[in-house]
Amino acid sequence: MGCWTTSCDLGHLKARSKVPVLFTMILIFTYLFYCLTGYCDSMPSELFVHQNFRSKPFPKEAKKLSHWNGSVVRELPEQDATDVEEEKRQRGLAYDSNLSVSNNFGTKEFPQAIIIGVKKGGTRALLEFLRVHPDVRAVGAEPHFFDRFYEKGLQWYRNLMPRTLDGQITMEKTPSYFITREAAPRVFSMSRSTKLIVVVRDPVTRAVSDYTQTLTKSPGLPSFQNLVFKNSTTGLIDTSWSAVRIGIYAKHLEHWLRYFPLAQFLFVSGEKLVTDPAGEMGRVQDFLGLKRVVTNKHFYFNQTKGFPCLKKPEGSSRPRCLGKSKGRPHPHIPAEVLHRLRDFYRPFNMKFYQMTGQDFGWE
Ligand code: A3P
Repeated sequence: MGCWTTSCDLGHLKARSKVPVLFTMILIFTYLFYCLTGYCDSMPSELFVHQNFRSKPFPKEAKKLSHWNGSVVRELPEQDATDVEEEKRQRGLAYDSNLSVSNNFGTKEFPQAIIIGVKKGGTRALLEFLRVHPDVRAVGAEPHFFDRFYEKGLQWYRNLMPRTLDGQITMEKTPSYFITREAAPRVFSMSRSTKLIVVVRDPVTRAVSDYTQTLTKSPGLPSFQNLVFKNSTTGLIDTSWSAVRIGIYAKHLEHWLRYFPLAQFLFVSGEKLVTDPAGEMGRVQDFLGLKRVVTNKHFYFNQTKGFPCLKKPEGSSRPRCLGKSKGRPHPHIPAEVLHRLRDFYRPFNMKFYQMTGQDFGWE
């Protein structure tokens, strides 16, 4: 039906004048929606950096690393490949579920707590379990700042961190820090109050796990027994082999204790993290001064995997286990070889129990 009256004309005019307003509102809402879902983080960083950093341009590397996607993780050189895969899987999970793992609120802080070791101890499991806690924000990939990228500077390091709000703590994990001599004084010079978490596991099993990982990457690797002995006739253990050296926990701890008091360390049992994840997570949350949010109800035991898995990992509503590179079957190692290695570690383990005041029961 046509419209012939003056009031009708006026109505049309009013409606037409609202179009630009509506259009602007739609644009604003679309922009806000994208920002809230983390999309803005992938835009040029100068636009979105926090006030503190505005005057200081990002190094290129920091820009790349601050984005949570697969291509970024690939750019971390010499990173433990299996851990990178695991991280990609976990991040993929967050994107799958269409929930953001980052946003533009809060500030980037230096980590108040770091998982400094040990490789193959269960560090990825611990980090993923911690990330369930709403007051923990953690870098997923291993930054390797205090061992490999220190020359990039603290500003670079801080830029890698996720943003945190008041009451949230920032964390990262790089298991090689524990065995890197320079790491302790460097962490100390960043902050002497940094809390340090070490996931330890029976050094014999840890060595086999370490070997298994290398074997996956280099199938032509000599046998474990070929590598573990300096002299197979005398049974002398080759302590220059990193798979052996990492497990001498007392020695590494001795060095860290020159910089940090024992009270600033928490030693997590890699074994208990598997048999009683909620119990071990209780200790971790207490140590970090967090409310015990991650409890029994967050875990279930996956029979196929043979490990505890999360009912609801960060950014997902679906249950999820760690990937194939975590919880791999180990090759068979002759009992006498393991026995010899166990004898080698015994005095170091005893010393470690004495130093930490904890008996890990490795025997
Ligand atoms: P294996 O693959 O030898 O069994 P890290 O993350 O420090 O590299 O440690 C890997 C180890 O974490 C695995 O070694 C596995 O035993 C242990 N782990 C602990 N909890 C786990 C979990 N819930 N799922 C998978 N692996 C877990």
